[in-house]
Amino acid sequence: MIHKIGLIGFGTVGRGITEILRDKKDYLKERYGFEYKIVAVADFAYGNVYNEDGLDMDLLLKQAENKEKFTRDLVSLSTLELIAQSNVTTWCELTYTDLETGGPAVEHVRTALRAGKNIVTSNKGPAALYYDEMMALAKTHNARFLIEGTVMAGTPTLNLADGPLAGNTIRKAYGILNGTTNYMLSEMEKGMAYEEVLAKAQKLGYAEADPTGDVEGYDARAKVTILANIVMGAGIRISDVSVEGITKITPGDIAEAQKQNKRWKLIGSVELKDDGSIEAYVKPMMIDLSHPLAGVMGATNALTFSTDLVQDVTIVGPGAGKIETGFSILTDLLRIHKGY
Ligand code: HSE
Repeated sequence: MIHKIGLIGFGTVGRGITEILRDKKDYLKERYGFEYKIVAVADFAYGNVYNEDGLDMDLLLKQAENKEKFTRDLVSLSTLELIAQSNVTTWCELTYTDLETGGPAVEHVRTALRAGKNIVTSNKGPAALYYDEMMALAKTHNARFLIEGTVMAGTPTLNLADGPLAGNTIRKAYGILNGTTNYMLSEMEKGMAYEEVLAKAQKLGYAEADPTGDVEGYDARAKVTILANIVMGAGIRISDVSVEGITKITPGDIAEAQKQNKRWKLIGSVELKDDGSIEAYVKPMMIDLSHPLAGVMGATNALTFSTDLVQDVTIVGPGAGKIETGFSILTDLLRIHKGY
């Protein structure tokens, strides 16, 4: 079958997956028999375009890079109408994350699933706030709701727990889950000022649309919630995870850590305790330089699963970035393809 892919949101990640799909078309067909067309793109800044035979992605990429509105294949359908009425088989929801309401992504996801269309998303809103509802909708309408990119971009975490690690009981998941703050802490150690490094992280495409979500720890809190519920079946709400970001860390704190042979890291953790309770938090911690997490620098993330059968399994890799998060979308698209 030829997959008909639609993108909601044509920002950093939307353009990242588009470039991957354009550049690896032959490889993906030859290696996996994965054939596709991008038939729809909905973006509130550039417009909604649809062509059931496939869009001119080079043109859309060029126009978006130049911050120009789309000109070809424009439709007057609203985004929700396009989601429900097009011939798209899998929608990639790549709009900005809103961790208060989940919107507008949550409505996009509901509409797609109700229409029996698969959703692949790196948007943390629907996954952290409405996972059970979305999975129930997917089941009812015989569609998939896949969210690998919500935690550590394209570095496998959720699919790792669900795939190769299946059969283990995972009692704890912890690590560095936010690329922006890890990058900032790394650069601040070199003497760069807080505002300067934050601006750089935004320019590199690591930070959320509103970077408060990164520096206050809310982004990492969403990821802890997702890990708790999906990997550990904890059934917690985002508000059950205590949170403290990096905004109060001063150059003096950084110097103090260095003096003690330590380094600040923003750690996210969820643990199933022996009494059945769940302990979940995000907070800055001074980590001994000899600890493996201390060596994880820049926008790189790291996550350790504490399991019953293979003890601690740690995965280290990119936690943000255009192509790195774009790959998380590809990995779930391939999961859908393999399921056919
Ligand atoms: N803003 C996020 C980060 C992007 O810095 O990790 C990936 O979720």
